[in-house]
Amino acid sequence: MYFHGLFLLLLSTLALSNGNTLQGTIDIKRLQNILQENVKSKDITALYYSIKGLAELNADIPNICENLKTIKYDTKNIEQVFQLANAAAISNCQNSLKPDVINPATQLLEKKDATIPDIYHAVYTLRAFGKGSVYDKEDALKNLIQLLKKDDSPANYGYVFALCEHMGCGAWTASHAEGVLLAADESDSKALHFEGGLPVTANLLGSIQRTYKNLKKPSPLTEEQRYKFAEYLLSRRSVNTPKGASLLIEAATALADDVPSPISIAIKGKKYITSDSDTIEFSISDLIGRPVKFLKPEEVVAQSGTRLADDVVVLSKQPLTQKANEPTTFVLNLSKIKAQYGLYKIALSAGTKTANVNVAVLGEIQVTSVEVGIGDVDGTTSPKLTTVAYPNKLTEKLQADHLQKVTLKFSVRDKYNKAVLVQQAFVRVATASGDHETIFVAEPDNAKAYKVELNVGGIAKHLNFVSGGYSLTMYLGDSAVSNPIAWHIGEVLFNFGKDANAVGAPVTSAPATYRGLLPEIAHIFRSPEARPPRLVSDVFAAACAAPLLLLLLLWARLGLNMRNFPLTPSALVFHVALGASLGLYGVLWLQLSMFDTMRYLLPLGALTFLSGHRLLRRLAHDKATR
Ligand SMILES: *[C@@H]1O[C@H](CO)[C@@H](O)[C@H](O)[C@H]1NC(C)=O
Repeated sequence: MYFHGLFLLLLSTLALSNGNTLQGTIDIKRLQNILQENVKSKDITALYYSIKGLAELNADIPNICENLKTIKYDTKNIEQVFQLANAAAISNCQNSLKPDVINPATQLLEKKDATIPDIYHAVYTLRAFGKGSVYDKEDALKNLIQLLKKDDSPANYGYVFALCEHMGCGAWTASHAEGVLLAADESDSKALHFEGGLPVTANLLGSIQRTYKNLKKPSPLTEEQRYKFAEYLLSRRSVNTPKGASLLIEAATALADDVPSPISIAIKGKKYITSDSDTIEFSISDLIGRPVKFLKPEEVVAQSGTRLADDVVVLSKQPLTQKANEPTTFVLNLSKIKAQYGLYKIALSAGTKTANVNVAVLGEIQVTSVEVGIGDVDGTTSPKLTTVAYPNKLTEKLQADHLQKVTLKFSVRDKYNKAVLVQQAFVRVATASGDHETIFVAEPDNAKAYKVELNVGGIAKHLNFVSGGYSLTMYLGDSAVSNPIAWHIGEVLFNFGKDANAVGAPVTSAPATYRGLLPEIAHIFRSPEARPPRLVSDVFAAACAAPLLLLLLLWARLGLNMRNFPLTPSALVFHVALGASLGLYGVLWLQLSMFDTMRYLLPLGALTFLSGHRLLRRLAHDKATR
């Protein structure tokens, strides 16, 4: 399947490389479904475009008069008034609406500052109710030309061209259409559209096409313009609103009705042949999928077919056959080249137009057997050979050590038993779990016989020196082969000698391709240094405490002198508070947090300060009186 995917990718990038024809069509059926789903919409815009699109396709329009009576719209928005009036006109429901729905249009035309879009919507609103003649031809065109001088955007030209269809100034349109077409914007030098996108492009293409048809004049679009506008419409083909669908139908029909109409040449269905199905179908149609007008079936010819690999021409001037009951489907019979698989380029012409199309001839490959040999690297002994037939496996497990090599020889043949080369021929050596694997490319010799040599000592490093059982699998594939082969040939036991690790034993260095869990990372803290003996630390602690001891001893010898201690409440309070502060300091060391300590210290500090102040004043006073 993988090979198939690759092949289809290749084909889709190669297929249909030409700028001469279209490579697809606009799916009118899908657009019609969108319109039919919205024909009863409660939204006036969706409803109007659904009705308009269905009318363009000549499809059945259901009765929507009741719906129109109750639908909500903004009487101040002339575009919505226009949509209501025209939806009613297309579905013959004018009598269901009140006559005054057109009043906004009459009022607008009396205004001096009406813009071109306003005028267009107003005039076509009145026209829907049979009152279009209010807009007088001569003066009206002069007025529109004045307005165009202020804003000559393609959108405005589109409205004026459409108004001319109504007013009968088609000749003016004809004298300006070519200039307007030249103002279209080009993107990627392959698509043309007008500023304003699909609405403006559809409006202009539609009105130009209708006007020229009325005048019985050939279309002003050059062939290049036709194809480029068609490319733009194809890029918009995935629209999913009724408005988009309706506009796309209008524009695409206008282009498809143009003569000569742009042609689409595309492969229908599969882009390859196999030995069972030897034909490729092409769809040749106009932009909206109808048979191409004036194209005779015998004018559809494969001018040439070239093999991409070597540019050999394999077919020329082969006519296609038109499929019965499917006038747009043409069948190319490639049975002549089905034996030579590969990619081919077909130049297909329909009338004067030619498209280059890439197709593939898918072949089938087969491999009947593989010869597996085990011998010494230095070639001193003749190798032991075992032949395995496809799709069997080796009956016994082979064994090879680091002084030996394993050789695989096989040839790939096509369906007709001719030896062929394929783009991909590999042998994979892997453990059952897939943890260790390596892949070798099989090289063909001049006789197209493939050979792989596995030098056991040499491949050891690709398998991380893990000795043990490995499976051998052969893979054969090609972008033009319909049956890629994966063949499990069997097991082989490799012994990588003294450097080896046994399968299953932990690998000392984790290889770059190691897929399992890596060992958990554990952090070990440095062990603490040894402490001094207990005696040393006790002596040191005593030495630190000695000065305090000395102080107490000296105090004991001198005795306490309390003569100057004033026995007043303030002195008492001061000393108690000071002592409590020191006590609190001790408690901080033992259990309190800093914030708790601060909370206790604050009142205590204030008390100490006040009583201290009082005490000192008293002492100073005592000294002075003495
Ligand atoms: C294609 O042509 C070959 C040989 O002319 C014929 O045998 C085969 O039936 C044709 N294939 C189809 C599908 O017509």
